[in-house]
Amino acid sequence: MAREFSTVGVVGLGTMGAGIVEVFARNGIDVVAVEISAPALERGRATLKGSTDRAVAKGKLAEADRDALHERVHFAVGLDALHSVDLVIEAVPEHLDLKQRIFAELDRVCRPETILATNTSSLSVTEISVATSRPNQVVGIHFFNPAPVMKLVEVVRTVVTAPEVVADVEALCARLGKVDVTINDRAGFIANALLFGYLNHAVSMFESHYATREDIDAAMKLGCGLPMGPLALMDLIGLDTAYEILDTMYRRGGRDRRHAPVPLLKQMVTAGLLGRKSGRGFYTYERPGSPVVVPDEATPLATDGALADGARAIAKVGVVGSGTMATGIIEVFAKAGYEVVSVTRGMEKSAKVCESVKTSLNKGVVRGKLAEADRDAALGRISWSATLDHLADVDLVVEAVVEELSVKKALFASLDEICKPGVVLATTTSSLPVIDVAMATQRPADVVGLHFFNPAPVMPLVEVVRTIRTSPEATATARAVCAALGKTGVVCGDRSGFIVNALLFPYLNDAVKMLEASYSTADDIDHAMKLGCGYPMGPFELLDVVGLDVSLAIQRELYLELREPGFAPAPLLEHLVTAGYLGRKTRRGFRDHSHR
Ligand SMILES: NC(=O)c1ccc[n+]([C@@H]2O[C@H](COP(=O)([O-])OP(=O)(O)OC[C@H]3O[C@@H](n4cnc5c(N)ncnc54)[C@H](O)[C@@H]3O)[C@@H](O)[C@H]2O)c1
Repeated sequence: MAREFSTVGVVGLGTMGAGIVEVFARNGIDVVAVEISAPALERGRATLKGSTDRAVAKGKLAEADRDALHERVHFAVGLDALHSVDLVIEAVPEHLDLKQRIFAELDRVCRPETILATNTSSLSVTEISVATSRPNQVVGIHFFNPAPVMKLVEVVRTVVTAPEVVADVEALCARLGKVDVTINDRAGFIANALLFGYLNHAVSMFESHYATREDIDAAMKLGCGLPMGPLALMDLIGLDTAYEILDTMYRRGGRDRRHAPVPLLKQMVTAGLLGRKSGRGFYTYERPGSPVVVPDEATPLATDGALADGARAIAKVGVVGSGTMATGIIEVFAKAGYEVVSVTRGMEKSAKVCESVKTSLNKGVVRGKLAEADRDAALGRISWSATLDHLADVDLVVEAVVEELSVKKALFASLDEICKPGVVLATTTSSLPVIDVAMATQRPADVVGLHFFNPAPVMPLVEVVRTIRTSPEATATARAVCAALGKTGVVCGDRSGFIVNALLFPYLNDAVKMLEASYSTADDIDHAMKLGCGYPMGPFELLDVVGLDVSLAIQRELYLELREPGFAPAPLLEHLVTAGYLGRKTRRGFRDHSHR
């Protein structure tokens, strides 16, 4: 029989604590909510009220249920109010000494059988537990932000936690409607261990002006389908909390430099820029605690996508190549009203590409997304050629040939001879340095990267890569073209992986290393990222879709260029590739897909 929890205590009503109170009270459990001072208590009460009022306004909670929820919560200053609760969750700031002091005090105040839990993200639950005389009754219950919304809870057992305590807490999580993964006490557990290296890397991109905050966030949202970008997420987590989590993970997790907090974070925390809770972090908010972003001095001026910042007019576009990307890109430009010249290496190839474009456009018609007349008009805008000479009068060339530097360089040298002056020359490379391609021409200022995502007609993101020689006009032109295509163009520097792959693949690689270390299972890791962080797919699902060989190649590139030891490909990934387990395409990767 699982233990009954009728009253629980929550200590600290900040970002997490207030949400945790709501989770319990919503599920019929009485809560004693405790803060350090009367003003802090009022803030916590206001957060709870704001959140439940929003739920009522959205029709997710009945008014009567909200009132009943509030009646279940008893607010108090000081830990003494927790003398008769069945379980306490501590959610005070991420400092070991503070948490140890609170646990020693809870040990004194609470009944001997009360379970004491911490919501720590990165500190050692074991070290916290030994501040009490009952370490066997101490566990980690790690909720995710916002606690009422995110489904995941990580239950952390130490080497001394009693098995029945773990079982009781697991049953409680189920009663709260949460999905739990139970794991051992390691810095960052599953989700944060995989998340924070990525977040810190995104901050370092921002700090080094590699890309703007808006572009970094848009890249991860639109390129990976994440619910929010990394910098917006840092603001939600709280920069002070994020700093402490990174710092602890760095010290506890083997001094991986990727967890050493980027210096900018410390400066922002010192300056009181804590994120949403203080009204300003990477972004500026309407007021402290508000989720509404308001424009500030760093907000880009709204342009209508037209000829901003010296962007050149583009009417006719050449697309070179006959593969998946070239085919998709031809369709995208033709549909958007551009005149397109497709150049392949032979009329047979042109005929095939033409067929593929037709098939794809027809699908649009069948699905009711494209009128027949628009399909015909799009097809009418495309001319098919097997010679580069037909690119003499285009305004923009998009190259999407095989990913080999020598081939691309030779092509750009030819384009340099054929194309008229002022043309923007773009490469769709996903892994080669754009500057290498640019230097094959006499006009490197006009060369950019236009990194489309696959499938190009569907994916809303394009990375616009500017090299150290790219002119502002060429960048502005590329960006304006993306807007005219109905896509978001994010501008970034010319580094391996651009924004998306540089942030995505090390995280996937880290997941493989975690599996390899037997810390958790592929299923639990996938669950943790989907239910704890709102990712559309878990890392192993995604690796199997992308292909393990492709992932390994990208990770190797990143490692070679950036020389970051933490980017070294996971040996397990290499072994699976060697064994021919490449993912869905070979019916076996991290999972067996032969029966699906
Ligand atoms: N922010 C997140 O996204 C997130 C997610 C999961 C877990 N966590 C963890 O939750 C914990 C709390 O983080 P947060 O982001 O909610 O912090 P926060 O700074 O928003 O809130 C902490 C609250 O604790 C109160 N407090 C401080 N000392 C206290 C004391 N002695 N007694 C009672 N209350 C006290 C503060 O007044 C404040 O309201 C940390 O361990 C953090 O790692 C945070």
